[in-house]
Amino acid sequence: MSIEVDSDWWKTMFDEIYLLTDARSVCDKELTCREVDVICEFLPINPEHMILDLCGGHGRHSFELCERGFTECTLLDYSQFLIDSAKAQASQYNYSMEFIQSDARNTGLPSESFDHVIIMGNSLGYIHEPDADSRIIGEAFRLLRPQGWLLVDVTDGAAVEKSFNSNAWHEIGDDIVVGRQRELRGKQIYAREMVLSKAKGLIRDRTYAIRLYDAQSLSLLLDQADFKQVDVQTDFAPHRYKGDYGFMNHRMIATGQKR
Ligand SMILES: C[S@@+](CC[C@H](N)C(=O)[O-])C[C@H]1O[C@@H](n2cnc3c(N)ncnc32)[C@H](O)[C@@H]1O
Repeated sequence: MSIEVDSDWWKTMFDEIYLLTDARSVCDKELTCREVDVICEFLPINPEHMILDLCGGHGRHSFELCERGFTECTLLDYSQFLIDSAKAQASQYNYSMEFIQSDARNTGLPSESFDHVIIMGNSLGYIHEPDADSRIIGEAFRLLRPQGWLLVDVTDGAAVEKSFNSNAWHEIGDDIVVGRQRELRGKQIYAREMVLSKAKGLIRDRTYAIRLYDAQSLSLLLDQADFKQVDVQTDFAPHRYKGDYGFMNHRMIATGQKR
């Protein structure tokens, strides 16, 4: 049976269950450190710079940047749940940051306010409208100061297609089992995710769809937004152990500068 998807799935999917189902990627401090090492290696970043963590989820990259002495981080995400969770953690650890709940396509923030915009952890390709990702990249361009840099970390669609796995499951702790069924349709993956608690029964049965990019189409996305010096590295695989981590296994890092 073909997987049907509500086009607004991304507006409600990123909640406390996402922090469980994707914990192996988004709640692993060591992994986040490796990702932030890449940010610091690829961008000419310094502690005084204004950094926007766009689609930043529950703030893991911003927190790691704060711990490394970057004091001007702003976290923007659509999910109010993740923003609230980030605020609570930031106040616990005394991270001084800004938090904004907004749509990355149209943030409402003033132009030219950031030295760097980062879009980490495969946060493109969710919105049904074909121009949604170019609007997000265009908004990043608008928000950057002249000479500012964008860094995008997304799944490598060519690698996903090559090692396509239509069924996957993993356990989290003693209680949670996550099952995923996937269909590859052109340049999109449609997925159904079922999450079972051994104690409580079914706690999630939802579907989603994600548009895939390869190095060429990702590069084009940045070119079309007028970024210069666009570069895409395709061999980013930060997990230490083998496994099916969904869209987080094989990733690309794209960078571009606003002139
Ligand atoms: C897979 S999570 C990654 C979060 C974070 N970057 C990380 O690596 O932990 C994708 C995030 O993108 C956010 N997102 C997707 N589309 C968005 C949009 N149009 N505006 C703002 N946030 C968006 C979601 O709410 C979610 O938190």
